[in-house]
Amino acid sequence: MIGATKRAGVIGWPVEHSKSPRLHGHWLAKFGIDGSYVHLPIKPEDLETSVRKMVVDGWQGANVTIPHKEAALTLADEATPRARAIGAANTLIFREGRIIADNTDGYGFIENLHDRTGAAWDHARPAVVLGAGGAARAILHALIDAGVPEICVANRTVAKAATLAAPFGDAVRVIALSDVDNALRGAGLIVNTTSLGMTGQPPLNIDLTGADDDAVATDIVYTPLITPFLASAQARGLTVVDGLGMLLHQARPGFAAWFGAEPQVDDELRQLMVTE
Ligand code: ATR
Repeated sequence: MIGATKRAGVIGWPVEHSKSPRLHGHWLAKFGIDGSYVHLPIKPEDLETSVRKMVVDGWQGANVTIPHKEAALTLADEATPRARAIGAANTLIFREGRIIADNTDGYGFIENLHDRTGAAWDHARPAVVLGAGGAARAILHALIDAGVPEICVANRTVAKAATLAAPFGDAVRVIALSDVDNALRGAGLIVNTTSLGMTGQPPLNIDLTGADDDAVATDIVYTPLITPFLASAQARGLTVVDGLGMLLHQARPGFAAWFGAEPQVDDELRQLMVTE
């Protein structure tokens, strides 16, 4: 059929830095699918009109990134329970003229942990989450969904962490980031969800002396792959999981919905994504 190319892309403002086109382009080529995935720079005030036009024009859907994640959920006709619980969408699927919003960030986070640690991550033990922004919200939801019994959120601004924690009830407690060193004992997982440690940002300084020897440390920052936080965790002898896999795994459900094939994350793809 002529003109059947399946189209998707990543919507952001700005969005040129996004590596999602490289990722989806790799999978499209691998499967030999007649499809495209492009950068879609769209201003906040144009979001709804632009997305509705994409639906009319026959696109399959889109990823949504900063600053559109909350607005994308609001404009959708339907939302998955996890997108509604997180209060934001990163994946839009267009089906029969309707916009379906999903959020696969927490899914990508958990899949990456399983993928990189095998059985080393014990989800029956408490977790410590550093930071209380949008990424922390998706991760809290996913950790509780995965059966983590207790989570301690440590944030510079305690009030912001308290607002984030409130809907989760007693399972989530809140402390100041400056007090986190004493809260690590017993945790099976320590997660950085702040932007600290990203190239150009100050490092996250945490003293991991009190952490359990078999704890897993992971970061959502993936530039650099080994952040100062992960380097100190490695030096402490902890199992370390970098953040690149979260980006790769969160993309899988969208690709499957738009292009009809189940993509895999492997070392070849990781290599491609870290190449300049
Ligand atoms: P989002 O936009 O995803 O909601 P954000 O508001 O930018 O995220 O928050 C990112 C996280 O990084 C927050 O937990 C933030 O702490 P505050 O809530 O106290 O602002 C944290 N963060 C950013 N810069 C920081 C710094 N220099 N020191 C400590 N935490 C920092």
